[in-house]
Amino acid sequence: MLKVTKVTKKFDTTLALDNVSLEINKGDRIVIIGPSGCGKSTLLRCINGIETPTSGKIVYKGTNIEKLDKNKFRQKVGMVFQNYNLFNHLTVKENLTLAPIKLKFLTIEEAFSKATKLLNAIKLTSKINELPQNLSGGEKQRIAIIRSLMLSPEIMLFDEPTSSLDPEMINEVLELMKKLANEGMTMVVVSHEMTFAESFATRVIFMDEGKIIEEGTSNQIFNQPKTERLQKFLDKIKL
Ligand SMILES: Nc1ncnc2c1ncn2[C@@H]1O[C@H](COP(=O)(O)OP(=O)(O)OP(=O)(O)O)[C@@H](O)[C@H]1O
Ligand SMILES: [Mg+2]
Repeated sequence: MLKVTKVTKKFDTTLALDNVSLEINKGDRIVIIGPSGCGKSTLLRCINGIETPTSGKIVYKGTNIEKLDKNKFRQKVGMVFQNYNLFNHLTVKENLTLAPIKLKFLTIEEAFSKATKLLNAIKLTSKINELPQNLSGGEKQRIAIIRSLMLSPEIMLFDEPTSSLDPEMINEVLELMKKLANEGMTMVVVSHEMTFAESFATRVIFMDEGKIIEEGTSNQIFNQPKTERLQKFLDKIKL
């Protein structure tokens, strides 16, 4: 579906990604782990076309993403960030319907109808006219997730979707992500929630210093690390 080949990304003197290759196939649920600054966000941002690789290529269904219309491509590959990125001056309904209407992906009526359905599915219909400031962190993040779904993406990227949430709200977001996975969504998630990763991931990738160091099932990565670097990282996050 999407293939990353030998991608390198430099910011001035920082080598954020160093020769990274990765294939995302339909139905994959990939969890990326690794220490702060190892390039996880940069990799997702390159896959989503927000950043352009310094070298290497990213091909989506046979076409280099640089040649694709950015808006159309981002419709296919949705991204959810750590800090929700909802528009604070717009209501929940407006947040959900803005992009699909603007991109002419849905008519106004279709967008409202889809927004209502998705809100209903996460039991937040009553919040439809609220501003983000009146929602809890967990509610905001679930709205941010269904906002991506409004565009019917084929791949969803999540960058630490629960890391800014209070513990009691983490589960409701993870549950929604599991539900999406069960519905067959292809997902790439940066997350250090190990229990979640163990039950969710079809593949876990460990990155360090801009490189993919190990890749395997969650059992291989969490219980049988091959490298000292991964072992050290696991020791730290298990504390
Ligand atoms: N826009 C930018 N300009 C300059 N340097 C950047 C930029 N974005 C990222 N970097 C650098 O690239 C490296 C990788 O950053 P990245 O955000 O991808 O790491 P990360 O693995 O997501 O870290 P974290 O776990 O803290 O989110 C870091 O050294 C970072 O400082
Ligand atoms: Mg990051």
